Amino acid sequence: MRVAVIGAGTMGSGIAQLAAMSGHETSLVDVSADQLDRARQAVATSLGRFVKKGSLTVDEASAVDARLSCTTALATGVSGAECVVESVIEVLDVKQDVFRDIVADAPSTALLGTNTSQLSITAIGAAIPDHSHRLVGLHFFNPPVLMRLVEVVAGLMTSEETIARALAFSAGLGKETVVCRKDSPGFLTSRISALVRLECFRMLEEGVASAADIDKALKLGFNWPMGPLELGDFNGLDTYLRILTSLEATLGERYRPTVTLRNLVAAGRLGRKTGAGVYNYDDAGQQV
Ligand SMILES: NC(=O)c1ccc[n+]([C@@H]2O[C@H](COP(=O)([O-])OP(=O)(O)OC[C@H]3O[C@@H](n4cnc5c(N)ncnc54)[C@H](O)[C@@H]3O)[C@@H](O)[C@H]2O)c1
Repeated sequence: MRVAVIGAGTMGSGIAQLAAMSGHETSLVDVSADQLDRARQAVATSLGRFVKKGSLTVDEASAVDARLSCTTALATGVSGAECVVESVIEVLDVKQDVFRDIVADAPSTALLGTNTSQLSITAIGAAIPDHSHRLVGLHFFNPPVLMRLVEVVAGLMTSEETIARALAFSAGLGKETVVCRKDSPGFLTSRISALVRLECFRMLEEGVASAADIDKALKLGFNWPMGPLELGDFNGLDTYLRILTSLEATLGERYRPTVTLRNLVAAGRLGRKTGAGVYNYDDAGQQV
């Protein structure tokens, strides 16, 4: 299958890698050529780890790399695509604009997926009224190559056929699925994860404990693989702030971002991708 992924950031590069690892000819699109270079590098590093672990041979890793192409031209990227996954920044207007461009150039039968964390699929689809039956939430988790779940989200106009195609596509990527049948802010997952992390930021701000101890408590006490604060750094605090701001507007003030979080983002401390967030990181991305 030909797959196009729009947005080559934290998530888009991983989704494109996953698609290419699953045998799909994959095109990764971004407005920024620098970002595409960074995505290529991130994919190469990740494939190198798979080879080192022995789960891919050098030849298999080269074949994955050969199936992945990068472009800043959206029309080229989506040309002939049977599935397009949008993963640009979490801003409704931007996603709507991107989908207007996608439907102008992608085949009229392509499955249209959005990796939004919490925006309304119905609202995104309102920008493409003649195609909204083909649009579905395809919510991946970070990092997409390792995390087992894809949350499939139906908008009001999403057809049953589209949901079935989304489930089959996700299964083909080796993922388990859940279906959020009601287009509800934050779906099944972001609604919870955003709130838990927010409570951790509140505890940090109240001086209840250090960031390291808050994360350690949740990791060792509840067997979570990562603490919410370090996961926030991993996922990007700018994305998290956008998610909270949007959830506050839809679900109410219990999602209001804390001052500390706003300040970290204002200072450009966005997490691992900028070398600092709640924690500091060295050049290899290790916490220092
Ligand atoms: N970060 C996470 O852990 C995570 C997890 C699940 C879902 N998501 C969702 O995935 C989406 C992307 O998040 P991210 O963390 O990868 O963000 P990011 O900021 O790392 O990357 C976004 C990318 O989109 C690109 N972009 C912006 N406008 C564009 C356009 N018009 N055309 C093409 N590319 C464009 C940017 O250049 C950037 O490379 C968001 O909707 C987010 O909510 C994020």
